[in-house]
Amino acid sequence: MHTINLILILRYKLVINILLDYNNKYYIYRNGIFMKILAIGDIVSRQGCDYLRQTLMKLKRDYGADIIIVNGENASTGNGILPADADFIFNCGADVITLGNHALRRPEICDYLEENDFIIRPCNYHPSASGKGMTLLDKGAVKVAVINAQGAVYLDNIENPFTAIDREIENAKAENASIIIIDFHAEASSEKRAMGFYVDGRASVLFGTHTHVQTSDEQILPNGTGYITDLGMTGPYYSVLGIEPEIAIRKMKTNLPVRFSNPDGPCTVEGCYFEIDNKTGKTVNIERFRR
Ligand code: FE2
Repeated sequence: MHTINLILILRYKLVINILLDYNNKYYIYRNGIFMKILAIGDIVSRQGCDYLRQTLMKLKRDYGADIIIVNGENASTGNGILPADADFIFNCGADVITLGNHALRRPEICDYLEENDFIIRPCNYHPSASGKGMTLLDKGAVKVAVINAQGAVYLDNIENPFTAIDREIENAKAENASIIIIDFHAEASSEKRAMGFYVDGRASVLFGTHTHVQTSDEQILPNGTGYITDLGMTGPYYSVLGIEPEIAIRKMKTNLPVRFSNPDGPCTVEGCYFEIDNKTGKTVNIERFRR
């Protein structure tokens, strides 16, 4: 009698566990719960593009990423981005390419910016500029908006980024985006941190790009916005922001014109992972990476 009771209890527990597990998986399936975002720092040169191809799928697998956002404004040798570079980055697995102050450096990219919805340039460019400053990703249960903006401190005098981002957040909400990601391409860390607090609670994530040096200040701000001042860079490891050190030194020492080049050798990919609650649109987990 005792043995039969034990078997019945064990069977009962097994059935309960199976039901709980099924229920959990079904709930996750129905609600998606978390959106996992990988944001990759500025791709520099052909070396950076090649290293992205070598590493991005592994990063995607490791983090289980749903969306990959790559800053590609320095993908071409020199700077800027050409259509072939954009195609290359999309083929590596990027869902969205963001840009910055070199977005329109190569005129060849202008038609591409008009034709492809998933490559965006700063939203505070002059209205006559090619392309757009926001894109939308329809992920079924949720819509994700990605916004690109450029800082005003130590960069070209364009529309104030605070008012431009206000407008784009409203546009994203009007499109029913419940998750809003912002790439703030800016020079001054103070401007980036100020912008982080400015959008805290209105955007899911704000990450900085442009300086090519990864910062260690990733954090979830008080109202739930995932934040990092700069993602860092994807490109040559022994370099000055991706440039051959000797050339950067010669430029700074002589102030004479030089032709920039990018060194061969080991590369690095840097960025940040954000996990966002689909229901609240707030970041619940953040992790900086460098490989
Ligand atoms: Fe830049």
